[in-house]
Amino acid sequence: MSKKKRIAVLSGGGDCPGINAVIRAVTKRAILELGLEVVGVLDGYEGVIQNRFRRLTYDDVSGILTLGGTILGTSKTANPYRYPVRKKGKLDFVDASATALRNIKKLDIACLVCIGGDGTLGIASGLHDDGVPIVGVPKTIDNDIRGTEITFGFDSAVTIATDGIDRVHTTAQSHHRIMIVEVMGHRAGWIALHSGIAGGGDIILIPEIPYDVEQIARTVRERRKKGRRFSIVVVAEGAKPKGGEVTIRRVVEESSDPVRLGGIGFVLGEQLESATGVATRTVVMGHLQRGGPPTSFDRVLATQLGVAAVEMIKEKRFGKMVGVKGGSLVDVPLEVVAKGPRVVPRNHRLLSAARAVGTHLGD
Ligand code: F6P
Repeated sequence: MSKKKRIAVLSGGGDCPGINAVIRAVTKRAILELGLEVVGVLDGYEGVIQNRFRRLTYDDVSGILTLGGTILGTSKTANPYRYPVRKKGKLDFVDASATALRNIKKLDIACLVCIGGDGTLGIASGLHDDGVPIVGVPKTIDNDIRGTEITFGFDSAVTIATDGIDRVHTTAQSHHRIMIVEVMGHRAGWIALHSGIAGGGDIILIPEIPYDVEQIARTVRERRKKGRRFSIVVVAEGAKPKGGEVTIRRVVEESSDPVRLGGIGFVLGEQLESATGVATRTVVMGHLQRGGPPTSFDRVLATQLGVAAVEMIKEKRFGKMVGVKGGSLVDVPLEVVAKGPRVVPRNHRLLSAARAVGTHLGD
């Protein structure tokens, strides 16, 4: 353990249920076991660049286990190595890393705990190369971080998406309609696959398997011939047609990863309605999947990861994130995360399971 008596913690990127559970676990263990002072960085790397910190006491983190979001705030655009600034309305990017490193140095910390997805952890890797002792904790509803089998936030998002699918089921049945449920997941189909199976989706479309509208329409027609006059389609926001492209909802210029996906559910809805003649409605689960309290699974996972992060600080295992492999906690070098998202492999057992129960995967 270093002689320094203080650590800092930040949450970056999109929020998700369970971040507060990590902040709580890190802070409580650091105070109780190591007698450290804990500093919270406000709004992710924005706070590092703008020098915005607050002390986190034991009382500050009591009662936040069940709270969604992050008490520290977060930012999806602040990147010390590519910091967006607007001059006379024109967007530019500057290297603010010297300022960030100076502010971190002034804090005199033994370690900066970075809770985030691939973007946040990629930046953390850069800061580590620049001399900052870092421990990473992977977070995202998308479950697509390389080096870990599971991220907290995912189970909560799947639970919410499944509830949405369950709810549209009854209205689809009553009206004999096609109901399309668009779920998040970025470029990976984990949320769609899990919630689609859990919610009994008849058709599940994920980015990893480009779909054919005609095949989906055929599935709908065959179901109707068998007396099943409704169909439930679960579509990942990153799904795309064979030979086609993803549907983009907006471009956030300030962001290092500017493309925001969304809207595929509506595009597909029109195509399916005209191909089948069956009335079709689309529901977008959107940010509901990121809100509210974490499930008990995510609370337990987040607590374990936060506790493990302090173990890594104790043993100076820096430049790594805590991952899950084969159900055990493992150290994963931060640079692994930067190698791109962890998508659904084409031979994943859940794809075979879905097909085995008659679910159509769009191909
Ligand atoms: O990475 C989490 C996530 O919710 C993705 O599933 C989604 O594509 C994206 O963030 C949405 O971003 P924003 O919050 O900027 O709309």
